Amino acid sequence: MRQQIVAGNWKMNTTIAEGVALAKAVVEKVENPRGKVVFGAPATHLDAVSRTIAGNQHFGLAGQNCHQEEKGAYTGEISADMLLSAGADYVILGHSERRQYFKEDNAMLAKKVNLALSKGLKPIFCCGEPLNIREKGSHVAYVSRQLKASLYHLTEEQFRQIAIAYEPIWAIGTGKTASSAQAQDMHLAIRKAVSRKYGKKVANATTILYGGSCNAANAAELFSQPDVDGGLIGGASLKADDFVTIINALK
Ligand code: 13P
Repeated sequence: MRQQIVAGNWKMNTTIAEGVALAKAVVEKVENPRGKVVFGAPATHLDAVSRTIAGNQHFGLAGQNCHQEEKGAYTGEISADMLLSAGADYVILGHSERRQYFKEDNAMLAKKVNLALSKGLKPIFCCGEPLNIREKGSHVAYVSRQLKASLYHLTEEQFRQIAIAYEPIWAIGTGKTASSAQAQDMHLAIRKAVSRKYGKKVANATTILYGGSCNAANAAELFSQPDVDGGLIGGASLKADDFVTIINALK
């Protein structure tokens, strides 16, 4: 069976002390998760949070972004090597907030994916449509284009390192979750698109997460869908008890 993941995206929240306390509270309460648990902590917190999960194979650590160049004069940016040196093994790339507020486009994200993979970081690659695209009914084509433009240059071996997170923009931070049927439909469409490019075997092994107002109350229903392999969780990942409930909702 393909790997399930529950990843928390803390976004720009928590101090280091708060982040460490949150991670500790989760680690203490989770014993044998049915998938990998990943903390998407702010870059400043990674080193400290990595100590709270050290040696625990059930947990991973993600940066929320990395720059597409290896190093250099890019004031304020964070490199893949920096993330690795702080203990991260994953990196969230292409989050819709990065696309919207920091003008990350598909071509730039392809470069970020390349660099992350070349360094051994596992990308959690985000895709998802805005509301007007969903209303027009062209969401499958829109998301397929995002995947094609940023991922389909990869070799099969490289692609196997990617987890995809489907995050419909209209569901992020809005309290308006995609229904489990809407999530399943899109996840299946993504898996079919991956299958057309990389074959059935790779598609069946690809982890596809749902993100967008996933919470303690709706996670089990979403995760019960056959093509939903876990979640990328924003707001609810900041509350240890809620996040643990979500982790325990994995099938
Ligand atoms: P919310 O869970 O707060 O809607 O955020 C989802 C998200 O953007 C995760 O990356």
